[in-house]
Amino acid sequence: MCGSSLSIPAARPVIGEAEIEAAVRVLRSGHVIQGPEVAAFEEEFSELVAERHCVAVNSGTSALQLSLMALGIGAGDEVVVPSFSFAATANAVRLAGAEPVFADITPGTYCLDPLAAAAAIGPRTAALMPVHLYGHPAAMDHLMPLAARHGLAVVEDACQAHGAALHGRSVGTFGQAGCFSFYPTKNMHALEGGMITTADPRLARTLRLLRNQGMEQRYENEIVGANMRMTDVAAAVGREQLKQLPAWTERRRANAKVLDSRIEGLPVPQVADGARHVYHQYTVAVPDGRRDALQQELARQGIGSAVYYPTPIHRLKPYHDPARPPLPETDRAAAAVLSLPVHPTLGQGDLERIARAVSFAGGAR
Ligand SMILES: Cc1ncc(COP(=O)(O)O)c(C=O)c1O
Repeated sequence: MCGSSLSIPAARPVIGEAEIEAAVRVLRSGHVIQGPEVAAFEEEFSELVAERHCVAVNSGTSALQLSLMALGIGAGDEVVVPSFSFAATANAVRLAGAEPVFADITPGTYCLDPLAAAAAIGPRTAALMPVHLYGHPAAMDHLMPLAARHGLAVVEDACQAHGAALHGRSVGTFGQAGCFSFYPTKNMHALEGGMITTADPRLARTLRLLRNQGMEQRYENEIVGANMRMTDVAAAVGREQLKQLPAWTERRRANAKVLDSRIEGLPVPQVADGARHVYHQYTVAVPDGRRDALQQELARQGIGSAVYYPTPIHRLKPYHDPARPPLPETDRAAAAVLSLPVHPTLGQGDLERIARAVSFAGGAR
């Protein structure tokens, strides 16, 4: 999954000596499941999210599912989500027993449109689940008041947005819960893993019970829970990655700036007022059905790229419903987006090559 024959791959997950040594240290210690490394990782991650309580789990999907369950959201409830996201966003809702209701996005930021979200709210709606897609914060300044007006919970899908912020406030600190992923291609990883952030100590306790069979004390199960624990090996790798996150984020942002200034003929990513974009993806829009040809040409030149996401969730088999209202901005985005390499291991020469290739092959003729 991590290998690539392209000279500039779309993503390049780092597993350096520090991560390897950390993993070996834990393996040698014999304490490999949710022990001191997980506790330390939670403590250290809280610095990124204004000292919120942090609960580590085995994936971002688990983080989303457990957050909904801990908030009491399940059968009979609806959760408003964008369709323009990875399927995990909606899967987590279904896995919790609730039903996702898809709302359209704002063109440009590709995040949940607050007006569309408002229109999707009905009598069964229990929560909003905005996604900070590509590392750009969703419009939380509009979505939080909307949720408050309707008495809804907010679970942030921050799986792609470690360190992103809106008006100086970090993602993962707006809603009742924030959910991060540590999948290898994310801005930082833990091999696999997830983190839930919350200001509410009672919610944090419920989350800790839910991830571990409902137990705080061994064999004194208080509620029905799952096994969604993070291993200490994963946490040790995550701690090493977390140390490097600030520098990597600055590199991503600097790389994006270079691409912004060099790419000609195509709209570069937009950044909303007050948003700190952390460029999990650097995504251009390629109009007029030229996207696939551009992607092929980039591949021919050894440059990786990717389409996130070619099929919006509402068109995927488990969610397809012909009676659902159309989502025109979502469909437009799915047909046009192309994510270019922006990862921190790129050099100046790589960035020049990418920008030249994109401007020449994809720009207006
Ligand atoms: C927007 C979004 N939500 C949820 C997830 C699920 O995270 P994970 O793969 O760690 O389960 C991902 C990552 O793949 C994602 O990109």
